[in-house]
Amino acid sequence: MYYPEELIEEVRVRNDIIEVVSSYVKLERKGRRYFGLCPFHSEKSPSFSVEPSKQLFYCFGCNKGGSVIQFIMGIENLDFLETLKFLADRAGIVLPEPEDKNEREKFRLRKQILDVNREAARFFFSTLAGKNGARAQAYLKKRGLTEGTIKQFGLGFAPGGWNELTKNLMEKGVGKDLLLSSGLSIQTKTGELVDRFRDRIMFPIFDIRGNIVGFGGRVLDNTQPKYMNSPDTPAYNKSRELYGLNYARLSKSRKLLIVEGYMDVISLHQAGIDYAVASLGTALTQSQAWLLKKYAEEVIIAYDSDTAGQAATLRGLDILEKAGCNIKVLIIPDGKDPDEYIRNNGPEKFKNLVDRAISLLDYKIGTEKNMYNLDTLDDKLKLLNSIADILAAHDNNIERELYAKNYAQQYGISLDSLNSEIQKRRSRQLSREKAYSLSKNTVPEREFPELPKIDSRFGELEYMLLVILCNENRLFDKVSKEYGLDAYIDKGARKIAEKLYNKLEQNKTCVLAELLNVLDSREASYLVRVAETNSGLDDADKAIQQILNKLEILKLEDMQKQTLEMIKNEEDGRIRQKLGLEFSKRAERIAELKRLM
Ligand code: UTP
Ligand code: MN
Repeated sequence: MYYPEELIEEVRVRNDIIEVVSSYVKLERKGRRYFGLCPFHSEKSPSFSVEPSKQLFYCFGCNKGGSVIQFIMGIENLDFLETLKFLADRAGIVLPEPEDKNEREKFRLRKQILDVNREAARFFFSTLAGKNGARAQAYLKKRGLTEGTIKQFGLGFAPGGWNELTKNLMEKGVGKDLLLSSGLSIQTKTGELVDRFRDRIMFPIFDIRGNIVGFGGRVLDNTQPKYMNSPDTPAYNKSRELYGLNYARLSKSRKLLIVEGYMDVISLHQAGIDYAVASLGTALTQSQAWLLKKYAEEVIIAYDSDTAGQAATLRGLDILEKAGCNIKVLIIPDGKDPDEYIRNNGPEKFKNLVDRAISLLDYKIGTEKNMYNLDTLDDKLKLLNSIADILAAHDNNIERELYAKNYAQQYGISLDSLNSEIQKRRSRQLSREKAYSLSKNTVPEREFPELPKIDSRFGELEYMLLVILCNENRLFDKVSKEYGLDAYIDKGARKIAEKLYNKLEQNKTCVLAELLNVLDSREASYLVRVAETNSGLDDADKAIQQILNKLEILKLEDMQKQTLEMIKNEEDGRIRQKLGLEFSKRAERIAELKRLM
């Protein structure tokens, strides 16, 4: 294990499983549990369940189960350490330098890259201020940026020579390897190092802690590519950062405005809209959506109104919706980006646009509307159908009703006909779900997909023992006395028992979710499955006694077999007799135990 167990446990506890799962799966509360469509297998009616009090998930369809750790490992396809980092980031926990040698090496490299990036940013900044920076200064001025803004965002200039920065850093003692792994230099065919960024305006990319994790560099004219960016490095992962979030998260507004580019963020902040961030030309990712949700009550997405921008908007909306963000869409007229719009119309006009940002439903329906010519009856009908589709899929009853009224009026259709179309779709969907769940009940239970090797006679009972012990730690004395570690036959159960006994011996407590911290997904699934199939037991003392009895019977039966074998091979009559006596004594005990069951 690379991290102390307490730390792993803290990461688990600080990530509420309902919150985490909700950004991937739409959950609905039913009694003590939440249900949703399983993200691990395809299904039409929900058999995936999450139990907040236990902080466990389990799918009755595919039998996958575990804690928030196994959930993220499975859905993000990450290994244990990556999952831990992912969840620690999400909860704002800083993981200390890990004990593993490889990890420590990565950590050290990351720190070195951050240091060399800061050094590079200083170089770019002073180049911009110096005489070689005159052209770049003029360019930034032309684009309306003030001295203060340039300073705030640490903008700089990468000179036009081949290796100005590389040379400068090497003189300061930065090694070749670091120059390459930071992405600041590239190696030519002849093995020489040259600057990645040449003759470009430099935008340092900050993470939320203010580290410079990478750079973007823009040309001063129309040459292509317009921007060069740092590659992903041990310090920078494009899909995890949001440009400007280091400032925007401090905004009093509790809003975040997502735009596309560096220049948009900078212009917006300069115009007093201090809650703008950029996704840097890539589609929004799940980790970015989480960041957004963490820092904002409302997320406004403002992408260009050109077609590429619209497609990006729609994709981004899906991800944000899944993350549970409260989303609005800001449409900028005439296909302008926010920076251009502000330059042409001033900050106040842009703030008006923010105030008029529309809801997700309005945006979706507006997009549909643009595809039809409402003068023809045929198109009107098609639009009515699309609106009904979109509204039928919307789960909030009150909003659905309000929107229906509104759209009926807006598009000159009768409310009654719109409502009946929505109702038709909803009941069709319900009956489909019902039919599916009925047919599903007649289908035999699916094979367990990934079963760990379990001892066929002792395994399940031993796992049950462990599960009950997790629920009822107070039974530890009794269990450990009657079934010590050496009693375990199943190898997996024994390994888990060691952990659990060890904890409980030190008078610590342990819940099932915590025990899963150290298990792989197969073992975890199996343990949760055992917990689920035995969740009806409410008298834990009785249940434990029964399991201990059954285990004893199994062991006695094994001994009986051996004894029979020995009697068969024994020549000495007296010994045979002694063995026979043992046999019948044991038989009595077995009978007694069976009577107790
Ligand atoms: P834009 O082309 O909209 O650029 O790309 P921009 O930010 O508005 O810049 P100006 O106003 O022309 O100066 C949006 C974002 O997409 C990424 C950059 O992050 C950019 O800010 N991009 C764009 C690249 O990474 N490479 C490119 O060649 C172009
Ligand atoms: Mn622009």
